[in-house]
Order: sequence, then structure tokens, then C-alpha cells
Amino acid sequence: MLLTSYRLGNLTLPNRLVMAPMTRARAVDGKPTATTATYYAQRATAGLIVTEGVHPNAVGQAGPFMPGIHTDEEVEAWRVVTDAVHANGGRIFAQLMHGGRIGHPDVAGHHPVGPSAIAAKSDVFTTAGITPAPVPRALTSAEVPGQAQAFGDAARRAVEAGFDGVELHGANGYLIQQFLSSNANQRTDSYGGSITGRIRFAVEAVEAAVDAIGADRVGIRLSPGGEVQDIVESDMPQLYDALLKALPDIAYIHVLATADDELLMELRKAWPTAFILNPGGQIGPHEGTREQGERWLANGADLISYGRAYIGNPDLVERFRLGLPLVPTNRETWFQTEAGYVDYPSYQH
Ligand SMILES: Cc1cc2nc3c(=O)[nH]c(=O)nc-3n(C[C@H](O)[C@H](O)[C@H](O)COP(=O)(O)O)c2cc1C
Repeated sequence: MLLTSYRLGNLTLPNRLVMAPMTRARAVDGKPTATTATYYAQRATAGLIVTEGVHPNAVGQAGPFMPGIHTDEEVEAWRVVTDAVHANGGRIFAQLMHGGRIGHPDVAGHHPVGPSAIAAKSDVFTTAGITPAPVPRALTSAEVPGQAQAFGDAARRAVEAGFDGVELHGANGYLIQQFLSSNANQRTDSYGGSITGRIRFAVEAVEAAVDAIGADRVGIRLSPGGEVQDIVESDMPQLYDALLKALPDIAYIHVLATADDELLMELRKAWPTAFILNPGGQIGPHEGTREQGERWLANGADLISYGRAYIGNPDLVERFRLGLPLVPTNRETWFQTEAGYVDYPSYQH
């Protein structure tokens, strides 16, 4: 199944492997480099590539050396990447990631913002090292729609840059999931409180992207019940039931395996379009395997995303096809280093 084709929106994917979004922290002044173009182009046999998190506006930058897509220069730099992937026959979505309270003034040049003035009990990266997350400035009611619209503006710019679509990052404790949560969001206006209030920001951000580039080019990533970066979702199954009902019929939802199988299957059944499952979820001890992917396809997923396995194995599709051994991931070179980026070759027969 993994190696069969799939129609996603207007795209025909040659296989069901998705390269999961992975921050690699190698951008220069917010711009991806020519090496980044090589990195993604090397992985163009994936059914779909989803890039690392890309901030839709300056205040949304979560960490150092992460790329943006809100200036003309950034758009031009991304065009080199999308051209390289397309030249190799691939398809690529940009992951739009607004850090919200996960960020630091030394990184973004702005004080981070969030649903409420509540710091995450977790650390953030700065150029000087790791430091506790600061208390964000709570967005006023008048400011929230502008942050949702930033996803629409960035989606338009992503298409200008040659991307096939965008994925909104609604997972892993960044701004969208902060609004979804019952702890980071203590708002008393229409963006907080009840489930209806807490899903509003996610829905408006998706609608802004749909208005900008069309529903068939938009997806959203979700980590139901995921707790990274100090997230609590106290009414978790109902929260995601309501969210899935309220979202427009976009190209896909990309769900991390952060809930039990039963709940994941319920979400699958409740969602009308493509369902991408990330079996690895929240960076467990092992990278995703072909067997896990096949199991989830049999359970009703349409596409399977692989993160760490894609770092060391640019030809992951071919390795799965031929049953070749995989290069294990090396945490030491996940971020910033020159090594460990474009120096993993395809399998040497
Ligand atoms: C180095 C690294 C960076 C990551 N950056 C992102 C990111 O920018 N956006 C995101 O949604 N997930 C990010 N993730 C999570 C992965 O997309 C994926 O969900 C996770 O690694 C589990 O899948 P795996 O077992 O296949 O690696 C990152 C993971 C790693 C290892």
C-alpha cells in the first residue's frame, strides 16, 4: 500500500510516504539557503514533502536559524527550494508555524505573544543557548484576527514562492495548539473558554489560508492530547470532534500518534478528506517503520509521514521498496551543524 499512488487535492502522489516537517535550523537571516534546496531536492521521491516550520510573520519565529516567509527576500529564497524539488519530480508544502509563546525577544526581535500571559513550563532556544520560556504578551481581542490572517498572507506568499500548498502547524504546543489548550488559553473573550471559543483561532487561521489559496492546497497538523511544550487539553476527545466538524474540507489533516489507537481511528472516521498519520508522534525512542505505516494504511490512514527516517535516508521510498537497511538518526546533527544535512547519500549498492 505505501508504494501505491494517491490523489491529494490536485496532486497525484506517486506513493504514500510524506516527509514529516522537521526544523533543521540552518536558515540565514530567515532565508533558506542553496544547501536547503539540495536537502529537499534529495528527498523529492517522497509522495509529499512538508518543510520545516516556517514563521508566517516576524513575531511568530520560534527559534534561531528558522526560516520565514513574510518578506519578498524570503519568498525568493524559497523559490530556489521549490524549483529544485519540482525539477527532481517532487511535490512540496510549506509548514506554517507560529511559535506563539514559544519564542524569545532575542530571536524574533519582538516579545512573543500568546492567547494569555502564561509562560510555558518549558525551555526555548536562543542564539545564546537554552533558556526558560518567557511570559508572552496576551493578544488583545482586536489583535487575534490579525494573527489568524498572517496564515492567509503566508499561504499566498508560499504559492508565490512555488509551493504546492501549505500545512498549518496546529500541533506540538505552538500558537494554534496554545489556543486549543485548556491551560495556555485562559481568555474570557470569544477565543477562549468553551470548546467553541478555543477552536475558533484554528478555524479562522485555516479559513484565512483557504481564502488565500483554495481548500485543496491547505492542510493542518494536529497532536490530539499531545503534551509537549506544556500543553494540557482537559476535554480532549470532544475538543477534536468539534474542531474536525468546524474545519472546512481542506486537503488533509496530519495527525500525530499522540492519542491511543482507538481515538485516532475515530478521528479518521470523522474526517472526510485525506488523513495523514505520523506513527512516530512525539519523538519516541524509535523512528517510524514501514510496518507501522502499512498497519495504519490498513486502519484507514491515506498517507504516512516519516520524520527522523528521512534525515539519514533521502531515498527512503527506494529503501522501503527494496527492503534496504536504514541509516539511524544522529541527534548531534539535527540542528545548525554543517554535517548531517545534505551528506547522507542514497543507498550505495
Ligand atoms: C529534528 C526534528 C525537528 C522537528 N521539527 C518539527 C517541525 O518543525 N514541525 C513539526 O510539526 N514537527 C517537527 N518535528 C516532529 C516530526 O515531524 C515527527 O512528528 C516526529 O519526529 C516523530 O516522527 P518520526 O518518528 O517519524 O521521527 C521534528 C522532529 C525532529 C526529529
